[in-house]
Order: sequence, then C-alpha cells, then structure tokens
Amino acid sequence: MDQEIKRENFLIDSLTSFEKSNEISPPNDPEITIVRAPGRINLIGGHTDYNEGFVLPCTISMDVMVASMLNDKNFVVINSSEVGQFERFNVKNYKKTNSWIDYVKGVAHYIKKEGHRVNGFLAASNSSVPIGSGLSSSAAFEVAFCQTINSLFDLKLNKSQIAKISYLAETQYLGISCGIMDQFISALGKKDHALFLDCRPPYNNELIKITLDDEVKLVIINSNVKHSVKSFINVRKEECLKGLNILKKHLRNKKTLRDIKIDEYNKYKYKISQVKIQNRVHHVIHENSRVLEAKKALEDQDLDKLGQLMYQSHLSLDKYYDVSCPELDFIFNFLRKKEQSIGVRMTGAGKGGSLVALLRNHELGELFTELRRKYFANYNLELTIYTCSIPNGAETIKKMKI
Ligand code: GLA
Repeated sequence: MDQEIKRENFLIDSLTSFEKSNEISPPNDPEITIVRAPGRINLIGGHTDYNEGFVLPCTISMDVMVASMLNDKNFVVINSSEVGQFERFNVKNYKKTNSWIDYVKGVAHYIKKEGHRVNGFLAASNSSVPIGSGLSSSAAFEVAFCQTINSLFDLKLNKSQIAKISYLAETQYLGISCGIMDQFISALGKKDHALFLDCRPPYNNELIKITLDDEVKLVIINSNVKHSVKSFINVRKEECLKGLNILKKHLRNKKTLRDIKIDEYNKYKYKISQVKIQNRVHHVIHENSRVLEAKKALEDQDLDKLGQLMYQSHLSLDKYYDVSCPELDFIFNFLRKKEQSIGVRMTGAGKGGSLVALLRNHELGELFTELRRKYFANYNLELTIYTCSIPNGAETIKKMKI
C-alpha cells in the first residue's frame, strides 16, 4: 500500500479510537479532514530572514499530517503519534502549559485574534520531519494546524495569512526567535518550485520553477547533530543590530541590513571596531546579494551558478557568521571535492542539523557509502541521507464522511 495512504489510515484509526476510548462523543454525521504541511530546505539565504533580507527555500517530501473532526464541545483534543499521548485545551483558555500542545494553542489564539471563531475539535497528527534537524519541523506543525482549523471552520484564510499566523504563534506566543521563512515556504510552497521571498513586510514572493530531471538530485544530508536554535539566533540578532546601528550613523535612510549595499558597507565597515560584529554584517550583506544572483541563476536554469553560490554561502556562514560546526564542515568538504557535486550548503539555523546538496546522478550509492563510513569513523555518528522531491505547500488533501 502507498506510504501516504498508510499514514492517512493510521491517523484515521488513531482519531476514531481515541475518540472512543476517551468517551468524547462524536458529532452527528462526522466528517474527517486530512491536511498536510511540509518541512523545508533553504537553497540559499542563511540568516537573512530576520534581517528583512531575501531567501530562496523549497518544500521537501517530509511533512506533518493531521486528521481531524469537529466536536460539539469547547475543547480541542489532540493525539500526537510522536509524543504517543493526547492533550487537550479549552478554546476559552489560552494560557501556556509548556507542552507541545502550546504550538496548536498559539495558532488557535492568533486565528481568534484575527477575528475568526475556533470551536472544539479532535485531531491526530503524525510528522515525518525529523525534529531538531534544521528542516523546520515546528513550522510544519504550526502550519498544518493552522490549515486544519482553516479547513474545519471554513475560515477562508489565504496562504500568506496562514504563514503569518503560524509565525506569530512561534515568535509571540511561544517566544522562539526566528525569521518568517519557514512558515512562508511551508504554506506557500509549490510542487517543483522554489520560493523567492522578500522577508520585509508585505513579504513579496515569487515561485520559481526548478527543473530537476533524472540527471540532478536534490539531497538532504542530516548530520544527526541536534541543534538548539533558540539561544544562538537571539545572539546573532543582537550582533546584527549592533552593526546596523553603527552603520546607520554614517548612512542615511537604512532601516535594516538589507538596505545596505556591498559598496556602502565597504566604505564604512572600518567604523565597526569589533571584528566579530563586522563579520556578522559582512555575511548578511553579501548573502542577500548572493540570493538575488541565485534567483537569476534559477530563472536561467543555470544550476552550476546556483551551486557556486551555495558553496560561497556555506563558507560565509562558517567564517563570518560562525554557525557551522565540525560535522557540517566535514560533510561539506567531502562532497564539494566530488565530481557529482554541483552545490552544497548547510540549511536551517546551523550548529548541527542538515545540509542540502545538488548532486549529479552518477554513482551516488557509492558516494554515500563512502561518506557514511568516513563520517562514522570521525564522529561516531550515523548520517541520514534523503533524496527529495519538491511537493506542494500546506493543503487539505481529503474530506470524508465516516
Ligand atoms: C532557522 C529559523 C529561520 C532562519 C534560519 C536561518 O531555521 O527558524 O527563520 O532564520 O534559521 O536561515
């Protein structure tokens, strides 16, 4: 049986059985809604989003799937197959409980703040996006539940609204520091396209076709070094702000680092006396320019050019932004030298997590075996390697009566 159908059936079983076992009376004539929202990789544009810069992510074939149905009470009950337990909250009480269900509460809270109604429902969720791997499992979870509520209560939220509500849930409700890229790509992504996103409101964006024929593979290499995003994104944000405030004294009308051109930066960089701060600014300003070049390369279907920019991005994230780690650099350096490699870079926040690679489809089995062996010998860690397709962003895939 097809893997996706198996997952759908598993979720439907899980939904109907926990509904019975918890004596939650099903509504008359119950209808099950199934939605999915994907994780992401970012082809280029590392740590630019929270500086109102540019990014170029695409969706991946790992996602969060949610099966749900309305109930006639005031509570939401969710069964998460990862955690292996269910939790509930009352739709009149949005106090945080420091549990995974806060992600859903945050989303419901911001949907209500937008003036929509949210009543009780039951849901069962399953995620194939590995947690803490730089593939945006939390954004996929938020977006999947935002789409679930949208669908269940027929709210007619558009994709950008879904992205923004999910972003508010993560940053304002949960207090996690991040940019808006992950929620946008999970909501707006499209099959076989990358999303060019301008992370300055109103978040202009454009889908760009990626033609990956059988010759070129999009590959994710998960270092299996778990990262903790929260702490170091806050530090980097402050460092960028410090650099911006110094440059602002010499350059007029600059709101964020995204407004500063490379030649303007070169003229005044010496005003930033702390090398570390200068480095952070250096990365962001050059990375924004690389994303614009990468967009053009993708539009021209020039994957070699895109690949060169990906290498530069990784090196800059390591040297100037200091968010790589020995394990990521090992994989990067191994792949970069191989004839199959078109481009490689870390994706996500860094200090662990995953890399994304564009590889020529030639003896990849042997290449991965050698990489796994050498990586294990050096770090005593297994690698997880996925060959990816690029699916649609969040969508309701089924509504069915049971
Ligand atoms: C994390 C954040 C994103 C982005 C990346 C770095 O994944 O959630 O918003 O800042 O790091 O590019």
